[in-house]
Amino acid sequence: MSDIDHSGLVTRVHSRVVGRAREIELVVAALAADRHVLLEGPPGTGKSTLLRAVAGELGLGFEFVEGNAELTPARLVGHFDPARVLTDGYDPDVFVDGPLVTAMRDGSLLYVEEINRIPEETLNVLITVMSERELHVPRLGRVAAAHGFRLVAAMNPFDAIGTARISSAVYDRVCRLSVDYQDAPDEANIVHSALPAASIDPVWLRRVVEVVRRTRVHPDVRIGSSVRGAIDTVAVANSLAKLRGAAVLDAAVGLDAALVALSGRLRLREGCNRSPEAIVTELWNEVFAEPDPADAAEGDGEGKAHAPTGANSGR
Ligand SMILES: Nc1ncnc2c1ncn2[C@@H]1O[C@H](COP(=O)(O)OP(=O)(O)O)[C@@H](O)[C@H]1O
Ligand SMILES: [Mg+2]
Repeated sequence: MSDIDHSGLVTRVHSRVVGRAREIELVVAALAADRHVLLEGPPGTGKSTLLRAVAGELGLGFEFVEGNAELTPARLVGHFDPARVLTDGYDPDVFVDGPLVTAMRDGSLLYVEEINRIPEETLNVLITVMSERELHVPRLGRVAAAHGFRLVAAMNPFDAIGTARISSAVYDRVCRLSVDYQDAPDEANIVHSALPAASIDPVWLRRVVEVVRRTRVHPDVRIGSSVRGAIDTVAVANSLAKLRGAAVLDAAVGLDAALVALSGRLRLREGCNRSPEAIVTELWNEVFAEPDPADAAEGDGEGKAHAPTGANSGR
């Protein structure tokens, strides 16, 4: 990778990713230094977006794997085609490469999302490959990682499933970057970039973003909505306004859009007997009764005290 202009690369990635200047720089630096990387952050914080942009601009091959309980070692590594084994035996040609072997042979990035959800034995395969840069596959033999092979893993720290299992063996082999929620102006810009065709009133959008951000710090909510909820609220409000022959800024249109876009995304605390709809409605009415969040954030007004600073970590 020494022949690549890394500062030019950072600039090009910026044109595809809203904000995240520091994160882009750190991911590019870690990959340029041939390190494996772990991106840790809640869903919707742009981990996949950032990585796809970096891989695209680096011109790296990119193998994408969704981590879940069904990701067995055979699915990750590959397998001998059983029908062809009967005729040709265990010939290397009969081996169907899985994403790991493909990435190792090609010297590509292997991106494993939700790595904390994969079974222990699959995780152990990755741990071996990270340190040895080679893999022994029964009846196939040794597969060596070509230059450029790196693992990038992502995980959600609030995900109860298996997060604790990401052992020190993994942490000891990766560079870790914690990715927190974007700030409010970046979230508004992400909505614009996700919905380039929509005409969006900027003050209204700031309020929608503020409602979404407050779901993350509401006392009854364990996990609030990501920016995907803001994108969906705006998209649904636009089509709902057309259906009803009303304005997007119509209070009932916006609130109904927020209810369908956000209510399913809130994970309420144990023992809370309110509905997610009640919480979305409460936050919507609260935010829309206040001054423009941008004005409030500039002065030392009310809005600033409410402005969420990021993940509801530690909960
Ligand atoms: N920094 C960003 N720039 C542009 N779009 C973003 C950014 N962050 C998030 N998004 C948008 O938000 C959504 C979720 O982002 P994604 O990268 O899938 O998050 P994650 O992988 O962390 O769950 C996507 O639709 C993406 O387009
Ligand atoms: Mg993702």
